[in-house]
Amino acid sequence: MDTLAHILGYHEYLRTGEDHVAYLEITGGKPLYGEITVQGSKNAALPILAACILGNGPCLIENCPQIQDVDDTIAILTMLGCSVKKEGRTVTVNAGEMEKTAICGSEAGRIRSSILFLGALLGRMGKAEVPYPGGCAIGSRPIDLHLQALKKLGVYFDTKECGISCVSDPLEDPDACGLQKDRKIQDCRAGILAGTSHLHGGSITLDVPSVGATENSILAAVCADGETLIRHGAMEPEVEELCDFLRARGARISRDEDQNIHICGVKTLSPVRYRLRADRIVAGSYLLAAASCGGCVCVRNLPAGQLDTLFDVLRRMGAEVSTDGVVRAALPLLAVHEVRTAPYPGFPTDLQSPLMAALCTAKGISRIRETVFENRFQTAVQLKKNGSADSGERQPCPNRRNPSASRRFRERSGSARRGSACAGGADSMRAHGTWRI
Ligand code: UD1
Repeated sequence: MDTLAHILGYHEYLRTGEDHVAYLEITGGKPLYGEITVQGSKNAALPILAACILGNGPCLIENCPQIQDVDDTIAILTMLGCSVKKEGRTVTVNAGEMEKTAICGSEAGRIRSSILFLGALLGRMGKAEVPYPGGCAIGSRPIDLHLQALKKLGVYFDTKECGISCVSDPLEDPDACGLQKDRKIQDCRAGILAGTSHLHGGSITLDVPSVGATENSILAAVCADGETLIRHGAMEPEVEELCDFLRARGARISRDEDQNIHICGVKTLSPVRYRLRADRIVAGSYLLAAASCGGCVCVRNLPAGQLDTLFDVLRRMGAEVSTDGVVRAALPLLAVHEVRTAPYPGFPTDLQSPLMAALCTAKGISRIRETVFENRFQTAVQLKKNGSADSGERQPCPNRRNPSASRRFRERSGSARRGSACAGGADSMRAHGTWRI
């Protein structure tokens, strides 16, 4: 298993608890030395795999991360009738025989990116049936912007409701009900029905630069009739990578000096061989984990140009970091006055949890302000159990258009240093001293 702790010599065991849930148990507490290579980007892989259904002929995607989300996306592609072959990190998709337009089943409900098949299916087939998307519990995560944008391209919608009233069942406890609800919704295939008699270009302005809504708009527009303009679209590197992939297949997409996206629809897209770039979030998690343990680590294949804000924060924390991926730090790290997450090129919300763990090892009080997802401080609850994060203050998000919440952190104990070594996305630490993830 390619985890940082494993490669760099931390004791790490995959165990199964009494509740039959697998967890990692890590005993750390020493500086890290060594090197690690960053895998391909998950957030680029998922929309690009969905984009493979646009056009016929095989698309060969190299450097795919070997993760469940990719497997779930492959299951969706197979369900739609694509022929899919996975050999190591290479996935080949041929949508030549694809004829289905409906996605159902547990894979689709499990990952939020299943919603990207909405735009892709509309672009390919002119209609789509997709379930309400799943995803991590980091906020309300609505899809209104996706639907509004697609309407501008001539798409109409209906919703398919779930007939089972498990949400309001007073006998269920709220947590169990949430899980139950998901399962039943998937079973009875509640979701969105979309169709168009003429998919055409249009002018789209997004209220917030949603990554998913931008990608869905692009996927629907590349083969639509005429020109599309997307104002206030997301600028995340993964959106750019989706555009690069589509351009390599013959799509006509450009950005103007105001970062508006212009798309001129083409009749069809050609086969391609494409290599995914490195995952900036995984890379950033490695840098933070390495810095918060002290020592010297080389993170290979680092997409340095995409991590400027993290480099800035790491340097403010007293770490030395170079664009070739070498990070050196002596403990204790320094606290940072405030880090505010924001859409790209701001500090990535996906690196907020690893940063939080790293700041727990810093000397003094730090503050993090989350502005993208209103419910993304669950890691603080887990770190607090480990004696790391102070409860500090939390300001509720005023509204979803301007979500903002902040937390303060102070140094607590050596256990935080151990925990932060493996804190990249660790959301369920369950023990003191030795960490279980
Ligand atoms: C993507 C990334 C995720 C990352 C996030 C923000 C993938 C697979 N996931 O998620 O890792 O954390 O971008 O960088 O690429 N919003 C609405 N209405 C909508 C859509 C979004 O109000 O229709 C809001 C969300 O609630 C959130 C904000 O917009 O507050 C940003 O969400 P968005 O950029 O859409 O995130 P995702 O595409 O879901």
